[in-house]
Amino acid sequence: MYAGIDIGTSAVKVVCTDGVKILAAASADLDTSSPKPGWSEQHPDIWWQATCDALRQLSDKINLSDVKAIGLSGQMHGAVLLDTDQRPIRPAILWNDSRAANACEQLRGAVQDIGQIAGVLPLPGFTAPKIMWLKQNEPENYNRIASILLPKDYVGLRLHSELATDTSDAAGTLWLDQAARAWSSEIAEAADVNTSWLPQIFDGHDIVGAVTPQAAAKSGFRVGVPVVAGGGDAATGAVSLGATEPGRGFISLGTSGQLFVAGRAYKPNPERFVHAFAHTLPDRWYQMAAMLNGARPISWIGGQLDLSAAEVVALAETVTTDRVPIFLPYLTGERSPHGNPHVRACFFDLEDATTRAEICRSVVEAVAFCFADAAESFGDTLSNLSELAAIGGGSRSDLLLSLIATVTEKSIVRPDGADSGPAMGAAKLAACGDKTICIADLGEQPPEIGAFEPEATPALIDRLHKFRSLYQKIRTEV
Ligand code: XUL
Repeated sequence: MYAGIDIGTSAVKVVCTDGVKILAAASADLDTSSPKPGWSEQHPDIWWQATCDALRQLSDKINLSDVKAIGLSGQMHGAVLLDTDQRPIRPAILWNDSRAANACEQLRGAVQDIGQIAGVLPLPGFTAPKIMWLKQNEPENYNRIASILLPKDYVGLRLHSELATDTSDAAGTLWLDQAARAWSSEIAEAADVNTSWLPQIFDGHDIVGAVTPQAAAKSGFRVGVPVVAGGGDAATGAVSLGATEPGRGFISLGTSGQLFVAGRAYKPNPERFVHAFAHTLPDRWYQMAAMLNGARPISWIGGQLDLSAAEVVALAETVTTDRVPIFLPYLTGERSPHGNPHVRACFFDLEDATTRAEICRSVVEAVAFCFADAAESFGDTLSNLSELAAIGGGSRSDLLLSLIATVTEKSIVRPDGADSGPAMGAAKLAACGDKTICIADLGEQPPEIGAFEPEATPALIDRLHKFRSLYQKIRTEV
């Protein structure tokens, strides 16, 4: 049996698999704090606590001492800053935090070809500008840094005591030379980072350590069980779907959103804010449009209207008029394709007669429109792709998948286990590290349990055009 642990933003999810199929799953919720506008933080210790809580629930369903290897997955880009005792210096600064906008300008000026080296232009979500911000704003914390990890790697540290990461999470820092798959000393120097602070980089299926006695007592795993490096959530989501094979693509509808296409070559496209990152497996890269707001606006409006996400979608399905307002869903700014940390969300065309259901519909449509923009930013890369798999909580909604099929003009398929994608991918990497399956087997695709085709709905396409022109009107200068 293999375990996959995914350190998400809203929850830690854990699964146990036989290497292919999920046998049991559990999760424990996480809170995010926003002490100032644009800030987004979590203390690393809550990830470890939530991991142990979720594992405790899992142990009611299966025997954790049967686990033969463990894989990790997690939210990317977060800065986990550790002191010489390997204790967090401050809360981690997360992927959806926009405080470091000025540092991005500085870095772009200092390393002219950063987009070609690091696969994307500097934006505040990535790890590098966060450390520059820290040096300028919290020098007392900056001066205590002994090492820097990504979120899943902190949970790895608590499990096996090693400072390690994998290529896909290293890729999201902006310090990686994507073509060489090694830290770029040029970028690190320009970004106020000492490369001795950075962890060793492994492939996702490499074993980096073994569960320590202290971790075994807290987690329920056996002492000495191997832990593989795993991957950032985009890459492990890909592994769950077999998007390790060149040309395979998928969309992810979680707190963030992604449109991801795997490839055999490094193909930077920095001008459109499409990320070209090293995959978690050797000789693989991927292109990804990353949307900061993903399916989150659906739970956000649910929170405002006292509805669950499922109720928001159910209400949206009841709308029969075309008097739907337009919602621009940029609650935390946007990464792909706008690269705009300053823009914020708004509703247009609200009327006295606008109903709650129409507001819900406009929010669900906005999520789909962001995927239309993402698909457009890929240009020709998507033209050979006939279908995209969908994973993440938002993939439960038939309405959302069918809207995305229409606006992207692609078939969207729902795979079995779509909800637990990244945790499943991490468990597959664990099985690969244990040599139960080989790298080629990671290309296996799960069975489809639903498919959605583009439909002819001119009114929706008119609203997409309006959505795009409204963005041009409200965008603040970047
Ligand atoms: C990817 C990204 C998100 C986070 C959180 O670039 O920012 O996927 O990993 O899910």
